[in-house]
Amino acid sequence: MKFNALLKSLVVGAVALALPMTAAAAPIVIKFSHVVAQNTPKGQAADYFKKLAEERTKGRVKVEVYPNSQLYKDKEEMEALQLGAVQMLAPSLAKFAPLGVREFEVFDLPYIFDNYQELHRVTQGPVGQKLLKKLEPKGILGLAYWDNGFKVMSANKPLKHVADFRGQKMRIQSSKVLDSQMRSLGAIPQVMAFSEVYQALQTGVVNGTENPPSNLYTQKMHEVQKYVTVSDHGYLGYAVIVNKKFWESLPKDIRAALESAMKDATKFANDVAKKDNDEALEGVKKSGRSQIITLTAQEKNEWKKAMDKAHKENVSRIGADIVKEVYQATGYTSN
Ligand code: LMR
Repeated sequence: MKFNALLKSLVVGAVALALPMTAAAAPIVIKFSHVVAQNTPKGQAADYFKKLAEERTKGRVKVEVYPNSQLYKDKEEMEALQLGAVQMLAPSLAKFAPLGVREFEVFDLPYIFDNYQELHRVTQGPVGQKLLKKLEPKGILGLAYWDNGFKVMSANKPLKHVADFRGQKMRIQSSKVLDSQMRSLGAIPQVMAFSEVYQALQTGVVNGTENPPSNLYTQKMHEVQKYVTVSDHGYLGYAVIVNKKFWESLPKDIRAALESAMKDATKFANDVAKKDNDEALEGVKKSGRSQIITLTAQEKNEWKKAMDKAHKENVSRIGADIVKEVYQATGYTSN
């Protein structure tokens, strides 16, 4: 009897202890939506952030990653973040103007960055921080920049000279600078959600597109494009953003753990980006589905000269001060 009573009190005690623990154990859920494949720089970095965040918060945070536009397409995901239906995104820097923050389009200016070093002078410097601050009045906090890479152009005809673009319908992201860029080449730009590009290329709704090789390859766009031109004419990368209200409501220790996870995921993203893009281009080559054209320095110069128009047309839209600061960081000179 004595033993049974002891057992009973032990059980009651354990239940009493376990109850508040169970209640406290309901994790904070972060829904992280993105539009690209898992085996891209962004896809892998999102999964790595999930791993680190869950480990470092000891399970108090659960990160649910939804890749490939599974949950939302480009435009919808921005709205979902502002409404709090998702908590974290990493949209391309070319997709912030519809939100009312046009300054990010500075990253779309053709040939403004010659390499990742020049880009990092901006994303890891004061201009990068200043740009992220512009998101706050929209209820959004910018946590980091994640690299992707330098874009190729693809079409069903070889795009080597500016004249080759005449009349080509080219899919672009929702950026006025990219619109100007395509028009400066004589092409007809068409804004379209990323999730719709493969089919639009396949059915001929558009003739061509631009993206870093990692996006082209993982969406199999090279299977419906006869030619891929390695032109490095522009950069595509991301800002990792969160719903401000949500982020600021997190317990301090949780936020600190998530910030440290983000710091390491950012390093990871930027470490894998170049390698992933090089490998993706190799994959396109090996597939034999598209022919690769690599521009000579002279041909690049021809593109650069024509595309400079997109700089001139957009300085006041982006903000002359921002453009000037980026030119100073990268050494770009408008002709
Ligand atoms: C695109 O729409 O082409 C890209 O922004 C996709 C992405 O997120 O890399």
